[in-house]
Amino acid sequence: MDTHVVAHPLAAALLTTMRDRRSSNPAFRAALRELTHMLIYEAIRDAEVEEFDITTPVAPARGVRLANPPLLVPVLRAGLGMVEQASSLIPQSQVGFVGMARDEHTFEPVPYLESLPADLAGIPVYVLDPMLATGGSMVHTIELLAERGATDVTAVCVVAAPEGVAALENSKLPVRLVTAGIDEGLNEDAYIVPGLGDAGDRQFGPR
Ligand code: URA
Repeated sequence: MDTHVVAHPLAAALLTTMRDRRSSNPAFRAALRELTHMLIYEAIRDAEVEEFDITTPVAPARGVRLANPPLLVPVLRAGLGMVEQASSLIPQSQVGFVGMARDEHTFEPVPYLESLPADLAGIPVYVLDPMLATGGSMVHTIELLAERGATDVTAVCVVAAPEGVAALENSKLPVRLVTAGIDEGLNEDAYIVPGLGDAGDRQFGPR
């Protein structure tokens, strides 16, 4: 699997704000938005463009646009904080939704919402989830996408655990990973260490 770790001083500083337990919910959300901008910017770097004619105030010119705008799929609830920034960066994108809770005893994903186009053949898909922990939710989401014909999926995650990266690799699903960091591992509660805590709670407050 192709894994791209975005190594940039501004990305590292934003990730630090997100990791810091003293950051308020609004500060955490703001850093997540900005970091999403950088992750998407890197993720879409090699996307195909098509040319078309425009006229500047001075002369005719050739312009470019994305040949194949992606579908964005935030995984609720934590992925919600990434979708507005991603769609403002790629205004032609459409948005689907997957809702996944996790069973706090087995750490298995518990799906509760699936709102996706029926046919994803030929459409690049960006799955937005800040945390790639065990990989269970991400693998399940990509399976839903692959069932609909998706063959070009990018997992866009703020932080990944090696266990989650391995789960994606072992799944043999058509996915690449773009992340701001790969951490040490998971603790006994399947939280990423050092991580940043519960990405949903850090954005929206505890349930
Ligand atoms: N989900 C989170 O929000 N945080 C983790 O560390 C792991 C899963």
